[in-house]
Amino acid sequence: MKRRILLLSTLAMLGAATLPAYAADKIVVKIAGMKPDGEPETVGMKLFAKYVMEATNGKYDVQVYPNSQLGKEDAYIAQTRKGIIQMCATGTQTSAIWPAMAMLETPMLYDSMEHAHKAMNGETFKLINQGFAEKSGMTLMNAFPLGFRHFYTKNPVNSINDLKGLRMRVPNIPLYLEFAKQLGQSGQPMPFAEVPAAIDQGTIEGGDSPLADIVGVKMYEKIKNITLSGHILVIHGLYINNDFYAKLPPEDKKIFDDAAYRSAEDVWKMAAEVEKKAIKEITDGGGKIVDPNPEFKAALKKAGEGTWELFYKTVPNAKEILDSVNQYK
Ligand code: G3P
Repeated sequence: MKRRILLLSTLAMLGAATLPAYAADKIVVKIAGMKPDGEPETVGMKLFAKYVMEATNGKYDVQVYPNSQLGKEDAYIAQTRKGIIQMCATGTQTSAIWPAMAMLETPMLYDSMEHAHKAMNGETFKLINQGFAEKSGMTLMNAFPLGFRHFYTKNPVNSINDLKGLRMRVPNIPLYLEFAKQLGQSGQPMPFAEVPAAIDQGTIEGGDSPLADIVGVKMYEKIKNITLSGHILVIHGLYINNDFYAKLPPEDKKIFDDAAYRSAEDVWKMAAEVEKKAIKEITDGGGKIVDPNPEFKAALKKAGEGTWELFYKTVPNAKEILDSVNQYK
């Protein structure tokens, strides 16, 4: 427990930073998310809330509901689209509405976190979002990293062949099922929250997640082998209901936009530190870290790029999106 607190302390401190008290006539803004307190998604939501409330001097009461308190991801996405709640944080689950959103997490696309950061603050983000707001009824305001996905497996994984044939948990998103297929795995779609039980029951032999999620559930106590494959950078962001957004007075809209930008920048700045602390927690906790050799990395790159075919089939501007990242190298 102490180690988890240590790992997430920086994030938690920032996320839980002093929130001012507000009068009863404030405008309530509810934001739903799925990750626990202290993880980057929740930190992003809380910082956004803090920035809006500070800048509007109590006009808005931005209430943050992490850890699926307002329902599972699908449910709170639907609530945001309908305007039952005003905002939510999520990731490529929105590709069920608009396939291009899966390209926020295009496998093996970026050379580094910095590369991804520039692309998400630039043309790539804009191109991915083209058409999404009209189709979905909500607008993606920002993009921030939850971390690179790494494999956790029951048995050690030292080469691409060790990944083949495994029953691996995947998020229930076509991109992830396709990636499992490219690796010759049997992808088992389920929410991340069900992973620890599925490991105990032997339903799965592993999965892939950002290190913040891996330490969040102390995965290394159940499954010791963590392979630093870094094959997908998980990008989540804050989505806002279009009607609510359109009705904001211009000066408030600017405050919301600025808060979205600032909170995302804060999470980007923390990303490297989160990974470093997580690696320490895993090794201190008895987990085994494997750093893939160049041959393994090249094979992962090939498998990752194999999924891009899915984008060419389902996203009209896929090539433009993929090409756009080159300018940020
Ligand atoms: O962006 C969503 C995707 O990365 C889901 O990942 O493992 O949190 O379900 P997970």
